[in-house]
Amino acid sequence: KRPAGAPDRSLARPVTKVGIVGAGLMASQLALLFVRRLEVPVVLTDLDQERVDKGVDYVHAEIDKLLAKGRINQDKANRHKALVSGSVDKSSSFGDADFVIEAVFEEMSVKKSVFADVEKVVSPECVLATNTSSLSITEMAADLEHPERVVGFHFFNPVAVMPLLEIVRGSATSDETLATAFATGKALKKTTILVNDSPSFIVNRLLGRFMSEVSRIVDAGTPIDVVDGSFGGVAPMPPFTLIALVGPAIALHNTETLAGAFPDRFYVSPALQRVVEARKSAYFGPDGSLDPE
Ligand code: CAA
Repeated sequence: KRPAGAPDRSLARPVTKVGIVGAGLMASQLALLFVRRLEVPVVLTDLDQERVDKGVDYVHAEIDKLLAKGRINQDKANRHKALVSGSVDKSSSFGDADFVIEAVFEEMSVKKSVFADVEKVVSPECVLATNTSSLSITEMAADLEHPERVVGFHFFNPVAVMPLLEIVRGSATSDETLATAFATGKALKKTTILVNDSPSFIVNRLLGRFMSEVSRIVDAGTPIDVVDGSFGGVAPMPPFTLIALVGPAIALHNTETLAGAFPDRFYVSPALQRVVEARKSAYFGPDGSLDPE
């Protein structure tokens, strides 16, 4: 059955090569998913070789884990590993890509400049997908020569496990682009839904409201471990464990976007802001406070 709002699937274009902009946590997980499910060449790109190598190493290590678990055989592992490559040079590696997805820093100006660069080296039909969790697809596409090829393609962490994929139509997104996005999401074996281009779409807007309340409780003095402990057995992952998984900077950005759009309903936690500013990755203090200092 065609997902609600999805265009006719005959409009979908084939995806024979995938480019990924970024080689961080989300981008590497995407590379793994695309190579396993589509079995086409996937190129990870980033600003420096070290990050690119780290991304490719992650994919190879995850393929080795699947092999060790007996989920795939040696032939498949070799084939999938050979399909993943990395480069610091988008112009030489994206030329024949027909689907490029960006998973770079969650900042509109950065995403716009990434797409402007990519547009110079890909064909006019190449889909430009963004894994943004909160930003406007319409605005991200606005200055491009072909804004009709931009679509939101929002995954959840951990990408290999979470079934949902939010597909976001911007005001210029064409039916062909949207149909290709839905067909690709299906090939990736995700549950696809079409969502409106509004701040943080559906899931993060709901989650943001929940996180706003949780942050208020912590900012009023309840330690994190008490709050997280209260979720035992009632949620798959306690709220601050989830923030650690997703990344405090992403969580903060999401809340800021929502608080900007709906100031009466969302709350930006000062403690979370301090953690991100201090670039703390391990932020569970020994006393369970949000700020480890
Ligand atoms: N990466 C890859 N695979 C992972 C993983 C990770 N970080 N964590 C767990 N898995 C895999 C395990 O390897 C295991 O796979 P196998 O069955 O093949 O061995 C499977 O998931 C189940 O793992 P576990 O049994 O160890 O753990 P669990 O039953 O506690 O489930 C979980 C783990 C699925 C992550 C669960 O805790 C959960 O659903 N957590 C909530 C996650 C969530 O809400 N994500 C959305 C975050 S919001 C977001 O991402 C949006 C954004 O834009 C910021």
